[in-house]
Amino acid sequence: MDPSSPAKAPSLAHDPGHAWEEFVVASVYPEPGTKAKADYRNYDAPARDTVREFYRENHRHQTYDFVQRKRREFLALERKRMSVFEACDFLNTLVDDSDPDIELDQLQHLLQTSEAIRRDGHEDWFVLVGLMHDLGKVLCLYGEPQWAVVGDTFPVGCRHSERIVYHEFFADNPDSVDPRYNTPLGVYTEGCGLRNVLMSWGHDEYLFHVMKNYLPEPALYMIRYHSFYAWHREGEYAWLTDEHDRQMLPWVQKFNPYDLYSKSPHPPNWTELKPYYENLVAKYLPANVAF
Ligand SMILES: [Fe+2]
Ligand SMILES: [Fe+2]
Repeated sequence: MDPSSPAKAPSLAHDPGHAWEEFVVASVYPEPGTKAKADYRNYDAPARDTVREFYRENHRHQTYDFVQRKRREFLALERKRMSVFEACDFLNTLVDDSDPDIELDQLQHLLQTSEAIRRDGHEDWFVLVGLMHDLGKVLCLYGEPQWAVVGDTFPVGCRHSERIVYHEFFADNPDSVDPRYNTPLGVYTEGCGLRNVLMSWGHDEYLFHVMKNYLPEPALYMIRYHSFYAWHREGEYAWLTDEHDRQMLPWVQKFNPYDLYSKSPHPPNWTELKPYYENLVAKYLPANVAF
């Protein structure tokens, strides 16, 4: 990291997820064939302070108890009914215009992801996942803190994998000294299947519940586990998965590069693309969806 360019610090405070995704690409999972710009463990890089603080909060507060509370609070889906396009517009109000370095708004990230999937000739529901995968970030607009919306996700109720980014911050998480929760299986049984495992709370799990009645199973896996890097990139937590999870894992892995590496120098034109996406959304979803 070039110390002369502190202005390039990701501004997580304003732009949920995007700065985090940039951090992941730059420092944790660089695009194949490229090198990480800087090791995220370089504690001398002040530009990483915001991301580090984000992880500190996330790892401290995402407990088994916290996740259960958030699920009770949000999964009744009684907050808002809106179309997918209204949700996109709503999400786009999160754009950080104070940081010119972050040139993509939320909708652009979604569109670039979906258009890259479409260009590769994938099924239409896969394209739709690209368009919708981060819509769960509307949680931010309900006043939820960043650390409870974005970032990588992990199981709660069992030991935290050492392959999770900034694992050391779990020392501040009360679950890590609670004997009910700090063994490899914790509250779970071996091979119980991820559907029986509580994940740290964030936009992935929330959007899965919003969409679960409408999309094919691989699409739902991509939405639900796209930030579960310890599983889909690191191969951890296999002891919690079942045969069905293992069958679905390649779909989650197929989606991930589109999410991380689809940034295009030629931003898709929403006005031109809108008719295609209106048809696609109408094929799978009702006019209004419960969020
Ligand atoms: Fe995401
Ligand atoms: Fe994304």
